[in-house]
Amino acid sequence: MSPKAKGVLFGAAGVVLGLLLIALIVVLTGSYNVAATDRHNPIVGWALTTAMENSVESRAGDVIAPPAFTPAMVEAGAGAYKGMCAHCHGGVGDSRAIWARTMRPIPPPLARVAPEWSAEEVFWIVKHGVKMSGMPAFGPTHEDQSLWEIAAFVKQLPEMSAAEYAAYEDSHGGEGHSHGGQESAGGGHGHGGEDAGSGHSH
Ligand code: HEC
Repeated sequence: MSPKAKGVLFGAAGVVLGLLLIALIVVLTGSYNVAATDRHNPIVGWALTTAMENSVESRAGDVIAPPAFTPAMVEAGAGAYKGMCAHCHGGVGDSRAIWARTMRPIPPPLARVAPEWSAEEVFWIVKHGVKMSGMPAFGPTHEDQSLWEIAAFVKQLPEMSAAEYAAYEDSHGGEGHSHGGQESAGGGHGHGGEDAGSGHSH
């Protein structure tokens, strides 16, 4: 190896070590503010979002969706969604719980972002959750069938009107969350007399 190549090699190794040292200092001294009230610095924010998207994309590649999503599946998924997801991700119109908006990352409204994910990716995210984000894993507590129903419903959300959304019943009202706060937060917007009326339409 020429002396010049050696120099380049040592220089590169020095830079890598320097970066590792900086990272270690940040980790050990607590200088990165983990408060959810503090925005991520843009580099960390970019790294987390991009790592999450690419991780899901590569892992969901092996997931095989059912051949079709029937209206019965979508309906079952709607009930589960209202009970398990809407307080964080909102329904049609934005009905996230107030505390969900102070999470970091903020759970995105799925009625808006669902087109960015395939049904397989939604299924994967719901089954496995997302580390360091507050997105829970529902796989350990739910059958794949229920998770596909939820994925089927999530993929329908962007085309759904507020009235159609309201017409679906919350079938999981009693499942695993007995405190009433999120019920009122979830239904707080656009929840009025017409809900009961449209509820009869199916
Ligand atoms: C406690 C709040 C919470 C609950 C409950 C929750 N999620 Fe999430 N979810 C999150 C957060 C936070 C993220 C953002 C993760 C990230 O960006 O790294 C997320 C991300 C997602 C994403 C990816 C969206 C995107 O563009 O980042 C999907 C899809 C999703 N959740 C579906 C669901 C479904 C379906 C349910 C119900 C079965 C659910 N989530 C329940 C907090 C929640």
